[in-house]
Amino acid sequence: MKRLPLVFGFLGTFVLTASLVFVQQTQPSAQAQGGGGRGGAGGGAPAGPPMPTNLQVLSKDMTGQEVAAYMQTVAAGLGVACNYCHVPPTPPAGAPPAPAAPAAGGRGRGGAPQLDFASDDKQEKKTARVMLKMVSTVNDTLTGEFGKSGSPVVKVDCVTCHHGVAKPEQLSDILSKTMLTKGEESAISKYKEMRAQYYGSQSYDFTEPVLTRLAQQSLATNKVDDALAWAKLNLENYPKSAPTLVALSQAHACKGDKAAALKEVEQALAIDPMNAAAKRQLDQLKAPAGAAAAPAR
Ligand code: HEC
Ligand code: HEC
Repeated sequence: MKRLPLVFGFLGTFVLTASLVFVQQTQPSAQAQGGGGRGGAGGGAPAGPPMPTNLQVLSKDMTGQEVAAYMQTVAAGLGVACNYCHVPPTPPAGAPPAPAAPAAGGRGRGGAPQLDFASDDKQEKKTARVMLKMVSTVNDTLTGEFGKSGSPVVKVDCVTCHHGVAKPEQLSDILSKTMLTKGEESAISKYKEMRAQYYGSQSYDFTEPVLTRLAQQSLATNKVDDALAWAKLNLENYPKSAPTLVALSQAHACKGDKAAALKEVEQALAIDPMNAAAKRQLDQLKAPAGAAAAPAR
């Protein structure tokens, strides 16, 4: 999916704030006006998108330019282009099919609108409208509950949940689902693909604890092989993660591989001598056989 330059997000946020409180603001820059076609070439007439005709959630006072500027924020928040939600104009009957809209969406060279922004033909636009309503309700609630104190309320926007992807699913959920439905190999390659694509972006959390938690959850639900897979995968990127080494040690202990379990827990303690889970694990591994079966008593 094509990503929009980040600058649109900032400009758009500025304009959104302005338009949602119905304050007239001067347009911050030509860049934020993208979208609806820029009037005729060479006419010198005041350009800009036409007045919106099908606003059901946004304020009907908003001009085409204000809507287009806000839409930049929406698109950047989801990491998509305008044509993710908007369809190309339907050609008149008998006319040859219109050329496909450019991926950057909606900005025609000749100034003619490339997308039919008023049309509700795409399910994604309908979904987005429900989201717009939700966001507006959330912000009304926030302003109502917290706005009395006089300090400005932090506004929720698409990016608050979406972080630059259309489907705001947590990395750990995507990975556990893949593990469950497609198995270990797919889950591992899914992680590597996503890491290659998104590492350093705001979209997914690739920090150390994510796979450690998956390993611990797998242990807790007796999925020892999954735990081994998550722990080993995490150690590829975080070889000094003591909690991951402890989880790996526990998985190996469950498998009956005491030698590996001991080595890993000792490695964990060398990295983090105060690690309580590692100390417990070492005690259990060193306890005489039989005692380890009832550690809680
Ligand atoms: C995630 C979906 C989504 C994306 C991406 C998106 N829009 Fe929209 N757009 C909407 C929705 C929903 C509405 C209707 C809002 C309403 O009903 O209040 C809308 C309405 C509009 C309108 C007003 C149309 C009319 O006549 O009522 C314009 C103009 C517009 N969008 C331009 C753009 C531009 C330009 C882009 C790319 C920068 C863009 N949109 C990207 C969902 C989207
Ligand atoms: C409170 C969190 C939250 C906010 C804020 C939010 N969304 Fe969403 N959005 C979600 C979730 C969760 C889903 C996935 C729902 C599902 O699984 O069907 C979703 C799904 C979507 C989808 C469908 C994507 C797909 O591939 O199925 C669109 C389009 C969308 N959101 C648009 C928006 C827009 C536009 C905004 C801002 C006006 C917005 N969302 C704000 C949580 C949010």
